[in-house]
Amino acid sequence: MSKDTLTIKDNRTGKDYEVPIWEDTINAMDLRQIKVNPDDFGMMSYDPAFKNTANTKSTITLVDGDNGVLQYRGYPISDLAENTDFLETAYLIFNGELPDADSLAAWRSEISGMMALPDAIPAIMNAFPKDAHPMGAFVSTAAALGTLNPDASNVLDMDTRWHHMKNLTAKAAGLGAYFYRHTQDKDFVAPDPKLSYAGNFLRMMYHDGSGDYTPDPALERALNVLFILHADHEQNCGTTTMRTIGSSQVDPYSAVAGAAAALYGPLHGGANEAVLRMLDQIGDVSKIPAFMDSVRKGEQRLMGFGHRVYKNYDPRAKIIKSVADDVFKVTGRNPKLDIAMELEKIALNEDYFIERKLYPNVDFYSGIIYQALGIPTKMFTVMFAIPRTVGWLAQWSEMLDDSEQKIARPRQVYLGALDREFVPIEKR
Ligand code: CMC
Repeated sequence: MSKDTLTIKDNRTGKDYEVPIWEDTINAMDLRQIKVNPDDFGMMSYDPAFKNTANTKSTITLVDGDNGVLQYRGYPISDLAENTDFLETAYLIFNGELPDADSLAAWRSEISGMMALPDAIPAIMNAFPKDAHPMGAFVSTAAALGTLNPDASNVLDMDTRWHHMKNLTAKAAGLGAYFYRHTQDKDFVAPDPKLSYAGNFLRMMYHDGSGDYTPDPALERALNVLFILHADHEQNCGTTTMRTIGSSQVDPYSAVAGAAAALYGPLHGGANEAVLRMLDQIGDVSKIPAFMDSVRKGEQRLMGFGHRVYKNYDPRAKIIKSVADDVFKVTGRNPKLDIAMELEKIALNEDYFIERKLYPNVDFYSGIIYQALGIPTKMFTVMFAIPRTVGWLAQWSEMLDDSEQKIARPRQVYLGALDREFVPIEKR
């Protein structure tokens, strides 16, 4: 009869150990009993970069990388992208259920009412050099918001926690848009409570300041879809950073700043910016063969391709590609799309990419759309950070409520020198 246990034989001692299996997983702490001598520390698992380690249980987001599936709270991403806007999806991610009409109206009006930034933030924005990287400004001003909200450190009080989760969600858009205004030498524009979250982002970016601002519905819709697609993606580098920082029970503003710093890197959220630079570097479809040669030789990577979890087409990339058509109907076709589509066509048919299961990820086409929306390349990762703030906060709150979680503190395998005799400086 089959049993949900794993028997481990330690060939050093000949002893057998039986450990429980739960959800195809064993608990790493069950290895600790495996010892040669009673006073040994006990066995650990070694897993650099967490390639095969679950660091949490979660009920928020499912990524099934082999089958190209992404679901938030059990709803397929394609249904959410088609039928909801960003705030409706954010409500779902936070609360676990889709809102009814009254709850959605109340939620929209609450978040819109919290979008305006306190005066200190534009003042801090103005202190940045205009050529500073917008992600540096996002990271810094997210942390700065925390200094204006000292009660946010009371993370175990549910009302306080929830208030600051809403506050960060609401203000993330302004942190991105206001830095752009600063680089353009333009006055900051307050959000309009009548507009949607995406509409307000466009207003804060582009409104000339006089009269009402009405976003183009197709562009507002496209931005909503992009925000929905980026809202959460389970235990990636940024989210793991959020959980790790948050496990010390620091306030959420500091934790979001840390998560955003992780996202900034070119192997993570920074890839959307790297894709555009790559397309600029290639410049023309005729230069693609030489570029692909250097990728095959391992001299550079095809940015926007590959994923640690997706070993099949990233479902987000599929949806983004269809949004691109709607945007280009309004803005005119971005010529970089031709280069991107040709790169994709070659890569999907080449052994190098097929063998390594490399497919376009979310970042491959998103930058081309952002560019069509008039967003500067340097701001692309901010466009990822704004909606991902929702995922970070939901995951952080789940972690705080999980009685199995403690302050994150991995182990190491120490291979360095031992018990060396100190050498005075004159003898070195
Ligand atoms: N272009 C060319 N070769 C690649 C690429 C790529 N984009 N990605 C992976 N490979 C090769 C890599 O060289 C290695 O080959 P070999 O086995 O011959 O040494 C093999 O594929 C496995 O790569 P890996 O680096 O071990 O895979 P990983 O799971 O550690 O990395 C990744 C995942 C996303 C960091 C990587 O695929 C990559 O650098 N992609 C480009 C950057 C990118 O688009 N990042 C955005 C990820 S999606 C958004 C997000 O989650 O932030």
